[in-house]
Amino acid sequence: MTDAEQKPAHDEVVFHRVARSGQVPDGYVRRFYVGELECAVARLHGKAYATSNYCTHLDCLLSSGKLIDDGIKCSCHGSVFDLDTGDPIYPPATEPIQVYPVREEDGEVYVGVSQADIEAGGPRRRRLRRD
Ligand code: FES
Repeated sequence: MTDAEQKPAHDEVVFHRVARSGQVPDGYVRRFYVGELECAVARLHGKAYATSNYCTHLDCLLSSGKLIDDGIKCSCHGSVFDLDTGDPIYPPATEPIQVYPVREEDGEVYVGVSQADIEAGGPRRRRLRRD
């Protein structure tokens, strides 16, 4: 098997380019996709972060929220999550959001996810439950 034919392990993190750095200005959060995985990419105090785009309270999109000093605030009911750890730091959410490693190189933003992350973060969970 050649290198080109080798697939990463199911839980191996691979960095994927998701945006140009300029598409995520400081103080903003935007939605991007890695395959089926929907993520929120934010920049706060110059540093880029990537998280799941779904609030763990009732699945609102975190890319519709806003950044505050403590982290990312969900626009629906005001939960705040730490961008480094994903931990909920303000209710009503009690469960952490998934966070992904981010690299920036040559003006491009790369998000590190595994195939397992992509499968877990696919189309909106609530929609899946209804189908
Ligand atoms: S859905 Fe995010 S706080 Fe309720």
